[in-house]
Amino acid sequence: MEIKNICCIGAGYVGGPTMAVIAKKNPHLNITIVDINADRIAAWNHPDLSKLPIYEPGLADIVKDTRGENLFFSTDVDSAINNSEMIFISVNTPTKTYGKGKGMAADLKYVELCARNIAKVAKTDKIVVEKSTLPVRTAEAIKSILHNTGNGINFHILSNPEFLAEGTAVTDLLNPDRVLIGGESEEAIESLAKVYSSWVPENNILRTNLWSSELSKLTANAFLAQRVSSINAISELCESTGANVNEVARAIGMDSRIGSKFLNASVGFGGSCFQKDILNLVYIARSYSLNEVADYWEQVIIMNDHQKRRFSDRLIKTLYNTVSGKKIAMFGWAFKKDTNDTRESAAIYVADHLLNEQANISIYDPKVSEERILTDLNYLNTRTEAENRNGVSYTALPLDAVKDAHAIAIMTEWDEFKAYDWQDIYNQMQKPAFIFDGRNLLNKQKMDAIGFEYYSIGQ
Ligand code: NAD
Ligand code: UDX
Repeated sequence: MEIKNICCIGAGYVGGPTMAVIAKKNPHLNITIVDINADRIAAWNHPDLSKLPIYEPGLADIVKDTRGENLFFSTDVDSAINNSEMIFISVNTPTKTYGKGKGMAADLKYVELCARNIAKVAKTDKIVVEKSTLPVRTAEAIKSILHNTGNGINFHILSNPEFLAEGTAVTDLLNPDRVLIGGESEEAIESLAKVYSSWVPENNILRTNLWSSELSKLTANAFLAQRVSSINAISELCESTGANVNEVARAIGMDSRIGSKFLNASVGFGGSCFQKDILNLVYIARSYSLNEVADYWEQVIIMNDHQKRRFSDRLIKTLYNTVSGKKIAMFGWAFKKDTNDTRESAAIYVADHLLNEQANISIYDPKVSEERILTDLNYLNTRTEAENRNGVSYTALPLDAVKDAHAIAIMTEWDEFKAYDWQDIYNQMQKPAFIFDGRNLLNKQKMDAIGFEYYSIGQ
């Protein structure tokens, strides 16, 4: 099928950057990103590019070049579906918070709504592309919804999971390790492969069956998260034995069979994908009664929860077993650097634990708003909104966060933290001045020399 018009349902962290890059690399294609969230669409259309709803290095430049040319943002979902030959479903698939599978399974209601919407308004044949991360065999359900319209329209379903990481979305999209396309119709697969072949080398475009493609995405995230939990498990052992986790990571990473990436010990992984996708994998395994498989992968999450808790426990213990009434400065709230996304950020859980101990928390993050921080804490339902507002203060400048603080907790590895005048920061704080570096970002010798009591992960 010749593709001229593409619609993407979901203008989020995946739909926005992915379609912007496809538009940039395919000036002959007309791309419309639609969303039911009118505020988000308005932000994508904002004349001031610093107001885009998603912060990603390099994204604003691509949107500047393509928006209004061959990339459009709209709330008119039905028209965009109708006018397109190819429709990407890129909506959120969060962990279910209710009913069967609560806390484990992926909530597919948004995906199903998209499928029903496509079935309702489509008047011509369409290729429907699963861009969202979905449980293996979801295409079967989508097919069933689309094929039961009884209006004689042909739908081909493809699975095309996205492997971009936030903070590096644009470079990941421009130079993907691979593009994965799963499907049943060779013609449909090739229509999508052609879109990517504008900039992705043919050898990096992988074709598989639908189920391998769906399962590969969950598996990739499980393997990546497992590396973080593995090195974090070793970090605790390092702290008990005098070994240094950075040295261990370097030593094992130079083994080409292991590789050096994704071995940074941390306060725990966050983000919208790892936990949700592993829980989903565990749920699927259990649904096939594969209990050992489920237990094996669940341990990655258990280790991650332990790592977050261990960080705040250590902070409290070191501050003479109490943080009540003490000012704790938090540097960073995003789940990693170079993004304004805070979903499942370790900072949320560490802050929640410290608030339970009646700490006063002062937070600075270069890209996250006060409103977002309070929403994240309120979502946990641990205490009232007023209590959260009371316990937390937001500062627009890092020096305001550290004034008279007893300790600093580094939660995100923002580059700017490394460049700060740490002597000045030390001068502003209560003594002894503690640093708990959840990202092993700073140099221990340098911090010791200034006079800080410096604690990092696995050292
Ligand atoms: P997101 O929450 O940022 O964006 C999803 C958007 O879909 C929202 O703006 C929402 O309003 C919209 N939406 C929901 N239902 C809709 C409907 N029926 N019609 C129109 N719009 C609707 O989510 P995201 O981070 O972009 O993730 C999307 C999918 O991609 C998820 O399945 C996720 O697992 C997967 N994924 C995410 C990442 C990542 O790094 N964030 C990477 C790879 C894959
Ligand atoms: C992840 C996958 O990397 C990406 O391929 C997939 O498409 C979506 O999920 P993302 O969650 O955006 O991407 O970021 P990622 O770089 O994977 O980091 C996830 C979390 O792990 C972050 O909190 C990060 O700080 C943490 N992490 C990562 C570590 O603690 N140590 C590491 O060595 C690597």
